Amino acid sequence: MRRVLIAAAVACLAAVGLSTPVLAAGAGSVKLQAGEWSFAGPFGYFDKGAMQRGFQVYREVCAGCHGMEYIAFRNLADLGYNEAEIKAIAAEYEVMDGPDDEGEMFMRPARPADLMPTPYRNDNEARANNNGALPPDLSLIAKARANGADYLYSLILGYDEAPADVEVPDGMYYNSAYSGNLIAMPQPIYGDDVEYTDGAPSTPEGLASDLTHFLMWAAEPKMEIRKRIGVAAVFFLSIFLIMSYLAKRRVWAEIH
Ligand code: HEC
Repeated sequence: MRRVLIAAAVACLAAVGLSTPVLAAGAGSVKLQAGEWSFAGPFGYFDKGAMQRGFQVYREVCAGCHGMEYIAFRNLADLGYNEAEIKAIAAEYEVMDGPDDEGEMFMRPARPADLMPTPYRNDNEARANNNGALPPDLSLIAKARANGADYLYSLILGYDEAPADVEVPDGMYYNSAYSGNLIAMPQPIYGDDVEYTDGAPSTPEGLASDLTHFLMWAAEPKMEIRKRIGVAAVFFLSIFLIMSYLAKRRVWAEIH
């Protein structure tokens, strides 16, 4: 009986192991382009200029469909904006507040402590405006997808003519980076979509790269501190290792 049970368990595990790659291969082929990221590696850091430009692209191109509901305006200090600049950015938005003395909710200009308002009041409104597809919130998207940075970069640049054997239904678009290759989001970036004031190139690659910097920061704003602590810990442990080794030699030298 025990043998039978063990055999059944092994068979189940084997089935799971075998079925996973088959499922993964079922979707349309996904091609990712690797970008160059200042935030990659143990000494990675966020490029403030790129993040500010990425935020500009988000505001002018993506914010019409995608919210970033976990980002408060005051968090934008990480991008290098000072208090007055953050106040001015916040004041361009309106948020709902209340109830007032009469019990009514009212709109007022946003303040630095407010979260960024979303373009739609709820998921149903979002779907109704996008042919039934839901544009996800972008606050954490860079961490919610495998190879976040390369994936976002490739997704934004991935719009292409569909190969002859792929039929693209109405309201769908061919994208080589998206799983299944058919996405309900129309191509958002064509190059020169926004006017940069710092002379950085506004090519599709430049815009996609800046957006990726901004979205990576949004998903993990404490990345720089995490990496710095990691490097310091490794440095400390290396010194500790050398000292323990020297101490050990000294102690044992007298015993031999
Ligand atoms: C016209 C509305 C619209 C605009 C503008 C838009 N998107 Fe989207 N986006 C969508 C919709 C709709 C989806 C859902 C697609 C689907 O489910 O097939 C989506 C999905 C996404 C996804 C999720 C892909 C995934 O892996 O699930 C990301 C990331 C994204 N958009 C980023 C952006 C960025 C960055 C911009 C600005 C450059 C942008 N979008 C502009 C409508 C939009």
